[in-house]
Amino acid sequence: MARYQVVVVGAGGFGREARNWLTSCLHPDEFAFKGFVDQKSDALADYGQVGQVIGHPDHYQPAQDDRFVLAIGDMASRRRTVESLLSRGAEFVSVIHPTALVSPSATIGKGAVIYPFAVVSNQAVLQEYAHLSLFASVGHDVHIGRYCLLAPYATVNGFSTLDDEVYMSTHSTVVPERHVGRNSTISANSAVLQDVSANSFVFGVTCKQTRKFKVV
Ligand SMILES: CC(C)(COP(=O)(O)OP(=O)(O)OC[C@H]1O[C@@H](n2cnc3c(N)ncnc32)[C@H](O)[C@@H]1OP(=O)(O)O)[C@@H](O)C(=O)NCCC(=O)NCCS
Repeated sequence: MARYQVVVVGAGGFGREARNWLTSCLHPDEFAFKGFVDQKSDALADYGQVGQVIGHPDHYQPAQDDRFVLAIGDMASRRRTVESLLSRGAEFVSVIHPTALVSPSATIGKGAVIYPFAVVSNQAVLQEYAHLSLFASVGHDVHIGRYCLLAPYATVNGFSTLDDEVYMSTHSTVVPERHVGRNSTISANSAVLQDVSANSFVFGVTCKQTRKFKVV
């Protein structure tokens, strides 16, 4: 009998994906999969073999051996749902896929989730409940705030900071030494070349030709 029972918070596409990778992240002697909590009791109606919705995140009463993994993609709901579960005594765990590269000098907060092939470089900090999806990359000395979500291939380069609850869409990039304010969204394939103030939606890549190289 495993010591802890894992409950995935969110049974949408994101939650099902988390459940899929969890098998390789958690030792079976220590963790067994219990089910999902989701606002929709029928969220898994078309995915019978994946598991069951065992409760609503705002009402579920955590058992002593339950351990929770956050898997909600909607930025407006991530913090609210965690706080609701914490108020009833929920314990979250951090999950790091074995193929992720995490520097021993990096700091990983409780409840953070790191998917396959993500990278967290030296002296980087990933705060509580942050999420790195497939191939997301966090450079050296980067600070990623609470509840931030980096979609596949999102990249934050050296010395940059994301405040809490920033969403980086797939293939977006923050160049080195930039600051992205709380609750901002960076759209797909976009590059943050300047600081971004809080509560902003940004997109695009500014790339202008300024000169030509002399061909010799
Ligand atoms: C951030 C995002 C979710 C915002 O979606 P949204 O709120 O529906 O906003 P829209 O996509 O409609 O964008 C708003 C406007 O900005 C424009 N825009 C947004 N991102 C853009 C981009 N990267 N390049 C050019 N224009 C862009 C849209 O064309 C739209 O313009 P309009 O109002 O003139 O039609 C979406 O832009 C995005 O990046 N999606 C990918 C998310 C992702 O990475 N998912 C992976 C999950 S695993």
